Order: sequence, then C-alpha cells, then structure tokens
Amino acid sequence: MSAKVTWLGHGCWSVETPQGTVLIDPFLDDNPVAAAKADAVAADYILVSHGHGDHVGDTVKIARRTGALVLACYEICEWLGRAGVERTLGHNLGGGSQHAFGRVQFTLAHHSSVLPDGSNGGNPAGFLLSLREGPRLYFACDTALFLDMQLIGRRGLDLAVLPIGDLFTMGPDDALEAVKLLQPKRVVPSHYDTWPPIAQDARAWAARVRAETSAEPLVLKPGESLTV
Ligand code: NI
Ligand code: MN
Repeated sequence: MSAKVTWLGHGCWSVETPQGTVLIDPFLDDNPVAAAKADAVAADYILVSHGHGDHVGDTVKIARRTGALVLACYEICEWLGRAGVERTLGHNLGGGSQHAFGRVQFTLAHHSSVLPDGSNGGNPAGFLLSLREGPRLYFACDTALFLDMQLIGRRGLDLAVLPIGDLFTMGPDDALEAVKLLQPKRVVPSHYDTWPPIAQDARAWAARVRAETSAEPLVLKPGESLTV
C-alpha cells in the first residue's frame, strides 16, 4: 500500500495512509490559496509544527469536529487543551511517538513559535514521518537552512517537503542547499505563493534541483497529490 500526499496550500499537507489521515499545519479558512475548507477535510491525526497563525490555523475546529489526535510541542498542546481540544500528545524536539500509521519524530526547525494570542508555543519543529508501509517523509515546515539536515537524511528519505518562500523561511537558494544535505529521492516545494511577499518561481527552482542534485523535484498546485 502507498500513501497519498496532497498539498492543500501554504504549509498545509494531508498524508492519507491505509491506517488513517495525517493533516499537517491546517491553515485553510483564512488561506487565500487553500484547496479545501476546514469543515471538509479529513483528519485522524493533526500535526502542528509551531504556534504561528498560518500553521495552527483551523486546528481547534478540525480537532473538535473529527476527534483527531493532535501532535504538537507540549506548550501548544496545553494551549489547545484550554481551547477545548481533548486529544493531544505533547512532544519536544528529538522526541517521537508511534501510531497506527507509523512513527512521527519532531525535528529541529530554526524559526519562532509564538501562538496567536501571544502565548509561548515552545520550540518550532519539523516532522520526520516513518510510515508503517516503509516510506520516510520529511516535512521541514518553517525553518532556515541548517547543517544538521544531513542527519535527518542519513537513513534515507523518499520525500522531502521544503519551504522556498524566503522572507519568513528558507528561500530558493538555501532550499537547494537543503536538498544537497538531505539527499531525498523526491522533493516538493512548500510555503510560497500564498501572498505576494513570498511569491517564487517554483519551476525555475525545480530546474536547478534537477540540474544540481540527484533528487527528483515535483511542483504541485494546491489540491494536487503525489504517492509515496
Ligand atoms: Ni511561522
Ligand atoms: Mn509560516
């Protein structure tokens, strides 16, 4: 069995596995490029990378509707609990947890993590998903480039999802360096073209990835999928 990975726009991704759907950073209703509304997405698990509004997004309403288990840093889970989300599992960097679909490990991210009301969201994170069926997926989420990406790639990655938007995260040049450090089989750009300040030419970036690395780049539109 394979997993279906869908870009829902900005930093929001859905990973559909035979053991359930993992929704990452569900910023949908206030997202100008979102491919789905919060009341229409499926979720058995919701992963929240950090506290910013464009990542916490619609987590509270989706979790309440679906009963999904929310995985986030401990501080974000406490905040979600106060907002009425009943099922959370707090993590911190380097830690992970095992679920029906596989393992999630929280990876470094060089960013910030204040929640929408000013509360401390703990450390920002990325996610390494080791699916039960075998594929390994790395979602860098919002981060700068860092050399330790080499460690994340060391056991092999079937897919890396990297921000290329610049301004708030890595831009195209550093995302190209990230591909060289991670050495994934395939790579997909994320966190760009949501608003004019983070507009990027993703096809030009993909051409550089193809020319300078052994990874296969794929450029999706919001709503499009790939399988791993
Ligand atoms: Ni952010
Ligand atoms: Mn962001």
